[in-house]
Amino acid sequence: MTLQEIIEMDKKYYMNTFGDRVPVCFSHGKGVNLWDIDGNMYYDFLSGIAVCALGHSHPKLVKAIQEQAAKFIHCSSLYYIGQQAKLAKVLVECSCADRVFFANSGAEANEGAIKLARIYFKKKGYPDKYEIITLEKSFHGRTLATIAATGQDKYQEPYSPLTPRFSKVPINNLEALEKAINDSTCAILIEPIQGESGVNPTSAEYISGVRKLCDEKGILLIFDEIQCGLGRTGKLFAYEHYGVEPDIFTLAKGLGGGFPIGALLAKEFVAKAFEKGDHGSTFGGNPLACAAGLAVMDVLFNEGLVENSRKMGDYFIGRLGELAGKYGFIKEVRGKGLMIGIELSIDKAVEIKNRCFEKKYLVGNVGTNVIRILPPLIITKDDIDQMVGMLDGVLAEFTE
Ligand SMILES: Cc1ncc(COP(=O)(O)O)c(C=O)c1O
Repeated sequence: MTLQEIIEMDKKYYMNTFGDRVPVCFSHGKGVNLWDIDGNMYYDFLSGIAVCALGHSHPKLVKAIQEQAAKFIHCSSLYYIGQQAKLAKVLVECSCADRVFFANSGAEANEGAIKLARIYFKKKGYPDKYEIITLEKSFHGRTLATIAATGQDKYQEPYSPLTPRFSKVPINNLEALEKAINDSTCAILIEPIQGESGVNPTSAEYISGVRKLCDEKGILLIFDEIQCGLGRTGKLFAYEHYGVEPDIFTLAKGLGGGFPIGALLAKEFVAKAFEKGDHGSTFGGNPLACAAGLAVMDVLFNEGLVENSRKMGDYFIGRLGELAGKYGFIKEVRGKGLMIGIELSIDKAVEIKNRCFEKKYLVGNVGTNVIRILPPLIITKDDIDQMVGMLDGVLAEFTE
């Protein structure tokens, strides 16, 4: 099939929630590279939006998936599942959590977190504690509860009336948060670094203040680490940057290295609120997804990818800082590890992203003024130098 035939078929049969997609169709990948169906090679600096942490077709991940698929793919959670138990153990042993529940996506993991926070208070005898405070500009998913939790009108407006009992406060404003807490508040849900709204980090003072407030008021602290977790920011979990531990946190994107899997993790005192029949999932935690998760965790640890993310992130942000010194329209380069945003003072992010694409580099944009860079965690200094050279050439075409 030619690209044109695929585009025509897609336009006729697929529900169009993506608008005009970038006119390319990839056939395979290896490491940081992708190839389209016409044989052109691209450099992937977006990783399927922070998903392909190991790059494409990592041999250990491919082998784990192939071997597991050849044994069996699915098994109901009515039965014990070895891979599920093993991945839960790995995640508990490397994190502040005591228990795990697997889902199939980020939104679904967040739904689980919302349900767990509510049921925790219900079972403690506080049935009126069910409101969750989230941050403006946050993104928590596309299900009805998670769009209500999301702090961006564009996702919510088409689906109003929204699932009730979510309120919003501005990022890094402890006073606003304290004012928003009331007797019905059961939890505060935060992305330590907001991804979808343009790589906006919460400050260390804010997060330690939030933890203190939660402790004082007896409210649960939930972190959405779906995008910023699992090495993306140069630490295994983003909460490690802040020296605080959440009561509940969620993972997805990088966990399967591209294979769909999400996870809800919690401390024992809250996890035990989920009892027989309180939550479930047909596919969540199936042998294949968990085999993929186990391979990803193995590679993260044994190939030093968290350390690589930190080192390469520092290097990348430094090199982009050089470009900021050269091009006055770069307002700010921000992020942690390999979760990087370049904010522009000109509304040219889409044009710059498109020019990078023409030069065979995949980057993202958030709105019209932020370029988003989320390379695989295997990225090297040479890859970064080449990319910065390419970006330098592209930026030279633009003026303030
Ligand atoms: C922080 C965050 N939370 C939740 C989600 C939703 O995850 P999914 O698309 O897997 O449902 C995303 C996806 O971009 C995300 O970045």
